[in-house]
Amino acid sequence: MPAQLIDGNALAKKVRLEIATRTAILTAKGVKPGLAVLLVGEDPASQVYVRNKVKACEDVGMHSILERHPADLSEDKLLQRIAELNLDASIHGILVQLPLPKHIDSHRVIEAIAPEKDVDGFHVANAGALMIGAPLFRPCTPYGCMKMLESIEYPIKGARAVIVGASNIVGKPMAMLLLQAGATVTICNSKTKDLPAHTKEADILVVATGKPKMITGNMVKPGAIVIDVGINRLPDGKLCGDVDFDEVKYVAGAITPVPGGVGPMTIAMLLRNTLRCYALNSTKES
Ligand code: GUN
Repeated sequence: MPAQLIDGNALAKKVRLEIATRTAILTAKGVKPGLAVLLVGEDPASQVYVRNKVKACEDVGMHSILERHPADLSEDKLLQRIAELNLDASIHGILVQLPLPKHIDSHRVIEAIAPEKDVDGFHVANAGALMIGAPLFRPCTPYGCMKMLESIEYPIKGARAVIVGASNIVGKPMAMLLLQAGATVTICNSKTKDLPAHTKEADILVVATGKPKMITGNMVKPGAIVIDVGINRLPDGKLCGDVDFDEVKYVAGAITPVPGGVGPMTIAMLLRNTLRCYALNSTKES
């Protein structure tokens, strides 16, 4: 029997509805929650992501600005703009879309964002807080993955979780969240020897590698929960994940589709984090 489908669109819709209601209440009281999204350069995938992020804010009634900067913007100019947004009372959350062009040091840029406006949760202060189990903001993609696991009431405590991909955006924070939820966690990376030996042990398998369909049916434990973070465009124009969905759906117990899985949940969690930024910053304005 094919796996249960974890429907990210349906789950995200519920979250967005709840956020729209809370946003309407806050707006009626005075200041609208506001998000600034900064894009540097013309990476086609990033352009789609930032448009979706800003549109999602508008749809729930939040204030949002999308700033597109040319690929040759200097690091100093970007840092200066972030400093202005840190002081802008109408902006509660700041998101700089990654990756940045090579001449810009993304660590310096992330560190320039005020930690209480860091909706992504990427600032070292926020990454550190997550690591010690006291997160201010959970990075949006791993946060969305956790909500998807919660939605199927999967017993995470004691489960073996394997994450394929060790990025700061997904793999590492995902490991922290699963660890805090009581899983036994393995993070695999591009140097991992005998990857299938690890993935086949997973009760929960989270894949974020950017390699289309790299996880095949024979790499998955029967009944496992498979969360596919990847979104790749194939030469024929179709989208696919890092998991070979057509094979793995006959092995897994539950699986997220691509598109319509983790992507919409990432955006829903961005909205939730923006509200959290608002709650942290609005006391300063009143
Ligand atoms: N690039 C890919 N995913 C993300 C994300 O969650 N936040 C930012 N800022 N950039 C990204």
